[in-house]
Amino acid sequence: MEMNASMAHFGKLGFADIDNILTIEERVYAYPWSRGNFTDSFLSGYEAFGFRDSGHEIVAYFVVMQVLDELHLLNFAVDLPYQGRGNGKLLMDRLFAYANEHAYASILLEVRRSNARAIAVYENAGFSSIGVRKGYYPAHENQREDAIVMRRMC
Ligand SMILES: CC(C)(COP(=O)(O)OP(=O)(O)OC[C@H]1O[C@@H](n2cnc3c(N)ncnc32)[C@H](O)[C@@H]1OP(=O)(O)O)[C@@H](O)C(=O)NCCC(=O)NCCS
Repeated sequence: MEMNASMAHFGKLGFADIDNILTIEERVYAYPWSRGNFTDSFLSGYEAFGFRDSGHEIVAYFVVMQVLDELHLLNFAVDLPYQGRGNGKLLMDRLFAYANEHAYASILLEVRRSNARAIAVYENAGFSSIGVRKGYYPAHENQREDAIVMRRMC
């Protein structure tokens, strides 16, 4: 409850937030996005939104790319101390609000086959698996891991 209360400030993120985002990115992902990935995303017009705590530190964020009437979810993360408390669901609610506000028809995402927690959050939010991209992600010891492609109509 306390953690949810401290996710009160929600808004758009930009270049000035990249340092803050990278700290989380490197904490929560085995294969984090680089500074260049975020810079390129913003330069390409992709949008990022997130929650801040009372000290204005970012604690959760997502990045989306617009593809015609479909929104492609490129990144979705909750900082480690805030995970497992329903905050993923709160972030998802904001994603849906954004998609509805801009009248998108659907949201598409890819997720590692092994990422059971993220898949649970997506399924609970109404996403369904529509396919597999074989060997889409790098994995340990030069292996590759499949991506599950999921979509939800808005
Ligand atoms: C994925 C992520 C955003 C979810 O955020 P979160 O705040 O932990 O999620 P929530 O607390 O809202 O919900 C977690 C759900 O997963 C379930 N869950 C947790 N661990 C699980 C596991 N190992 N297997 C299956 N379900 C699991 C919980 O039971 C909960 O479901 P419920 O609401 O039905 O009880 C967060 O864990 C994260 O940032 N992970 C690292 C980055 C990442 O992998 N992002 C997704 C990239 S595609």
